[in-house]
Amino acid sequence: MTPKLLPFPQEQLEEIAQTYGTPVFVTSEKILRERARQMKSAFPMKKKILYAIKANSNPHIVKILQDEGIDGIDTVSIFEVQLALDIGFSAENIVFTGANPSDEELRFVHEKGVLVNAGSLSELERFGKMFPGGNIAVRINPGVGAGLFAGNVTGGEKSKFGIPALQFEEAKEILKKYDLQLVGIHAHVGSGFYSPEEFVQSAELVLSEAKNFQDLEFVDFGGGFGIPYTEEKEHLDLQEFGRQIAEKLQQFSQENGREIEMRIEPGRFLPCESTLLLASVTTIKNTPTRTFVGLNTGMHHLIRPAMYGAYHHILNVSHPEAEKITADIVGNVCESSDFFARDREIATPQENDLLAILDAGAYGTAMSSNYNLQPLAAEVLVRENGEIQLIKKRQTYEQMVENFGSF
Ligand code: LLP
Repeated sequence: MTPKLLPFPQEQLEEIAQTYGTPVFVTSEKILRERARQMKSAFPMKKKILYAIKANSNPHIVKILQDEGIDGIDTVSIFEVQLALDIGFSAENIVFTGANPSDEELRFVHEKGVLVNAGSLSELERFGKMFPGGNIAVRINPGVGAGLFAGNVTGGEKSKFGIPALQFEEAKEILKKYDLQLVGIHAHVGSGFYSPEEFVQSAELVLSEAKNFQDLEFVDFGGGFGIPYTEEKEHLDLQEFGRQIAEKLQQFSQENGREIEMRIEPGRFLPCESTLLLASVTTIKNTPTRTFVGLNTGMHHLIRPAMYGAYHHILNVSHPEAEKITADIVGNVCESSDFFARDREIATPQENDLLAILDAGAYGTAMSSNYNLQPLAAEVLVRENGEIQLIKKRQTYEQMVENFGSF
């Protein structure tokens, strides 16, 4: 068991709250850089790491990952593609793995010089018709899935993603029909796994298909690397993932007489632990049976607990030494599922205390909404030299309503 601690000194968080207000996402440059280095060093083979920008698309954060040598970006929408280009990644280091993309989206991506990774026979066929002779990658559904919650599993027969291995023959016919060049084979088993079994099993399947394509440039094993949200969980043994994958790739090279580039697409692992959501306690409500700690943030800023029942560790920044109580920590949205924690032990919060919701750097601000006409939160970056930088302003009323036009 590893105690979960605040990644910033109390005074620094108080200063941030004072200067920028709450709720505010606070990111540590140091932790972000550490995670990028860990990921790079765990896979010591010919590789490209494409950051899954859906986890956190703040360009200031992405640029730090780029500076650490993260090679490229895994995208799912045309605006993600545009942002990756605007950040300065070259088109050849961006891959578009859409979720049922339209013809217009495929055209946009292809015309930008970004590789399309097709996840269905329909997408392959439509791409082939529009761009015969073009380069393409194919996403296979590895048949195995893994993930934190049922909603995070992307492999397996019930998943909407990827072309099932059984339909691979049909995929090959479409490739041939339109003279498409298959440059990569991809699979992603799910989001949030802790042991290598499914990941390696899926990699094996990708490699077994890869041997049939002499000109294939890369195999992409997807993302999904978990982080320890709870104190009971340990960091996953990335080196072990690296060792097992290296073995499979070596075997592939020996059997096929060629080396192939490996790609992975970590999202969560890179930014998750670097960021906390700092909020203020507005209300303490003691009922005859429960204590509710009401915050000035809610599911519109961090939906994971409400959506998946996900655990996020929460610390009392203002009174860390106070006696512990058991409470429900809830948000300011008009929705019963708007909670951060149920029956959670926490150092007794008082009204106006600052609370820190940890591990909010992935799928936090990225999944935020304007529900209840609540503005998106501000984001700040704590540089390695201690400097504090505002990397996203809090949204204003005017920004929220501008697209309604005049009314
Ligand atoms: N590659 C593909 C094709 C993906 O679909 C995903 C995530 C990733 C890479 C990155 O996975 P990661 O390394 O972040 O686990 N909202 C959920 C997670 C959804 C993940 C969707 N796809 C959550 O908050 O847990």
